[in-house]
Amino acid sequence: MTIKSRSPRETAATARALAKEILKYKKRDEAFVVGLVGNLGSGKTTFVQGFARGSGIRRHLPSPTFLIIRSYKLQTKNYKFLFHVDAYRLKKPRELEILGLKEIFSDPKNIVLIEWADKIGRLLPKKSLLINFRHVRRENERIIKTGIRIG
Ligand SMILES: Nc1ncnc2c1ncn2[C@@H]1O[C@H](COP(=O)(O)OP(=O)(O)O)[C@@H](O)[C@H]1O
Ligand SMILES: [Mg+2]
Repeated sequence: MTIKSRSPRETAATARALAKEILKYKKRDEAFVVGLVGNLGSGKTTFVQGFARGSGIRRHLPSPTFLIIRSYKLQTKNYKFLFHVDAYRLKKPRELEILGLKEIFSDPKNIVLIEWADKIGRLLPKKSLLINFRHVRRENERIIKTGIRIG
């Protein structure tokens, strides 16, 4: 699926709608993982912020660039935590293993959104939903594509 977003609000609204759909489905075996791929400024964090709103998180999400992983408690039936991961500063996927990402991926009560998902290599679960972001032509135009697989 390809969506053309013309503003940060539109990107956030798209994410909010997707979150509502995902929350309806219960995962039985592992976390629901969404990998976000795209250059700096292509809208990944904006998307995560909209997704968090759609999951019922009211506070503003900071960009976790300096922290790598942040977690938020969810008050939903199917999921208990939302994790926001930013792999931008990651040097080796191994660092995320140390941060406990494998355990986070293995719990079906988690939703995990990962910016720069292409940087975590084989650690990214095969069944992840991948979303690609591209800044095209106009200042406020972004192309959001879902369902692309890495590797
Ligand atoms: N259609 C759009 N969707 C998302 N962000 C947009 C859009 N148009 C302009 N922007 C701007 O681009 C920047 C996107 O930043 P951010 O979401 O942090 O990107 P990333 O996390 O991919 O680096 C923000 O300054 C935002 O206001
Ligand atoms: Mg970002």
